Amino acid sequence: MQLTNNSLLQTQSFINGQWCDANNGDTFKVYNPADGNLLAEVADAGQEEVTHAINAADTAWSGWRELAAKERATILRRWFELILTAREDLATIMTTEQGKPLTEARNEVLYGASFIEWFAEEAKRLYGDIIPAHGRDKRLLVVKQPIGVAAAITPWNFPLAMITRKVAPALAAGCPVVIKPSELTPLSALALAKLAQQAGFPDGVFNVITSTKADVVGKTICEDSRVRKLSFTGSTAVGKLLAQQCSANVKKVSLELGGNAPFIVFDDADLDAAVTGAVISKFRNAGQTCVCTNRILVQDSVFEAFSEKFRIAVDALVVGNGFDEHTDIGPLIEERALQKVEKLIADALSNGAALLTGGYRSQSLSHGFQPTILTGVNNSMAIAQEEIFGPVATLMPFTTESEAIAIANDTSSGLAAYFYARDISRIWRVAEALEYGMVGINEGIISTEVAPFGGIKESGIGREGSKYGIDDYIELKYLCMGLSG
Ligand code: SIN
Repeated sequence: MQLTNNSLLQTQSFINGQWCDANNGDTFKVYNPADGNLLAEVADAGQEEVTHAINAADTAWSGWRELAAKERATILRRWFELILTAREDLATIMTTEQGKPLTEARNEVLYGASFIEWFAEEAKRLYGDIIPAHGRDKRLLVVKQPIGVAAAITPWNFPLAMITRKVAPALAAGCPVVIKPSELTPLSALALAKLAQQAGFPDGVFNVITSTKADVVGKTICEDSRVRKLSFTGSTAVGKLLAQQCSANVKKVSLELGGNAPFIVFDDADLDAAVTGAVISKFRNAGQTCVCTNRILVQDSVFEAFSEKFRIAVDALVVGNGFDEHTDIGPLIEERALQKVEKLIADALSNGAALLTGGYRSQSLSHGFQPTILTGVNNSMAIAQEEIFGPVATLMPFTTESEAIAIANDTSSGLAAYFYARDISRIWRVAEALEYGMVGINEGIISTEVAPFGGIKESGIGREGSKYGIDDYIELKYLCMGLSG
């Protein structure tokens, strides 16, 4: 890997301001998904190292929370600027270990950094309240205090932004953090830690545990009552397990779990805009995002026209190595991901769906999968109920608005939904009827640091980013002052 600053390439956990091997010397291998090459051997930490990180964070807490908000903001701001300066190296590390096209990786660095900038500013605006009292001899106040040690368990699909979206509000509020990144993409996390070290976070405030022992790390974090908050992004199954484990000590949790996004194209939509929106929301990051379109519902009268325009746009997408400037779709993260996609396609085909295009592995790219469209899909098929997490689009026709809403809401997920329409009454009706935490209206990309990201139903609890994102890292304390004594 060619970097300008080689010190960004770290292979040890970062605990209490020190780079640490696993106590027993264990390591794990990190591979480039685009060619299978070995990239690094990284410390494989276990329960002892997690506890060491929690000890360090707990010890650092009082010093960190006592800083003036402006002092914490200054360190966060420095970290943000260091990330921007290292943008190209961070993007290179990300594309190498995760596979996404370099342009997407560069954008993710900006996206990730934007949460740090945002929460550095929000740190200074964590206002409390004065409540009109219920008696003449009383004064009532609400103050906001940091919740305590915050843990973040983060996924491989956005190796940088999913960390900053969680830890920037935590750090801004005055909470030290313990981060467990995915074992598939630890190098981006460690590069962030290197820059955090340079930014000047005090020892113990910023800790990263690298490990393949996700169950041990998760259980240790959940069972340690000094960790007062866990934020997790990943599968619904793991999220449910972590929430259960956190219930033993009533730990506050934020969960950003799976989605099953509908993308509805109504007959009054601008079809070209809808095609552009569908392509970006379906194929960003090779279809490996929680907010990726999973089901495209198209009104009967425009079904043929939309399908043909969409097929032409999808056929133009180039599968390749993320470092090739023509690449639109990089590799999937691992063999298991390809097998899942193939299984879902096979199941859909055996239940009556048909291939409009694609449906096979790339011949030239390891872990590459050809962008695929299935038509004749219905909501009872596994592909319409499970998160595909790959470059496969499914098309379903519908006749009426109420039918589209019923199909769209017929899922246990409720993260993101999209629709394209022009009639203003319809836009309000549909936006209000969709049971989702986020709705893109004539927009295929909705993620930004200024808006609340999160889902309802089994897609999660809590919101990340925006003015609401810091709420999960604070406790409200009510002060009741009697004036008579
Ligand atoms: C995710 O897939 O979890 C995050 C996607 C985004 O932030 O846009």
